[in-house]
Amino acid sequence: MMQQVRGWVRDARHIAVLTGAGMSAESGVPTFRDAQTGLWAQFDPQQLATEEAFRANPSRVWDWYAFRRELIAKVQPNAGHEALAAFAQRHPGRLTLITQNVDGLHQRAGSPGVLALHGNIFEDKWLDRPGPCCNAEAAARGSPPYCARCGNLLRPDVVWFGELLPPQAMAAAEEAARICEMMLVVGTSGVVYPAAGLARAAAGRVVVVNPEPTELDDVADAVLRGGAAHILPQLLEED
Ligand code: OAD
Repeated sequence: MMQQVRGWVRDARHIAVLTGAGMSAESGVPTFRDAQTGLWAQFDPQQLATEEAFRANPSRVWDWYAFRRELIAKVQPNAGHEALAAFAQRHPGRLTLITQNVDGLHQRAGSPGVLALHGNIFEDKWLDRPGPCCNAEAAARGSPPYCARCGNLLRPDVVWFGELLPPQAMAAAEEAARICEMMLVVGTSGVVYPAAGLARAAAGRVVVVNPEPTELDDVADAVLRGGAAHILPQLLEED
């Protein structure tokens, strides 16, 4: 199977890659839905990853993101992130990398033009429409930081449940799915839409890379069972 999929990689003029939390698992970042270690096994997403939750208890949500930021700041991209970045650098314009991850590890590995559908955990934005007094650099310290004049709160620049994805990144991802001759779906359970819909919309062959069954296995032309850091170098490195 690996040899056949390597042949598809070689022949595809355009490859789209859709990654999820499992992409970073071997770097030490917990996934969301793995039964024992997943974040949503320990924490309730409705209390941490919605705008209503933030408005109801800003410090709880801010502190949870601060804890995740600290954890992610300590980890490194793994061999899977590096294989994707090296492939994109060897083949400019041939690979579009779409990620649901907010950890920035693809970017740190050197992948160009990453489409970060769920935002970036290291960036902040204002909760409410910022007025002229809202200056993020000068925000009053707090958990979360806030505008001392109007009280507007800073929040992490990530997409919470119920929120729209960044429209430009989503449009570019849809275009990549439409023109790709192959889509690699790596480390995602495939349950969160609209991201998972990109795999269903892929024009080309779909290859799932995941140690466990996923909701997208039904659209896969091939499933490679294993971890991203192990499989992607084998798939993408040239002889
Ligand atoms: P999930 O936690 O739902 O799924 C992680 C997937 O990674 C599972 O299918 C695991 O089997 C797989 N996995 C575990 N270890 C792996 C490894 N070493 N290599 C490859 N795969 C591995 O994470 P996502 O699908 O990314 O959204 O979740 C989608 C979205 O739901 C996230 O972006 C986040 C979450 O709520 C928001 O916060 C908006």
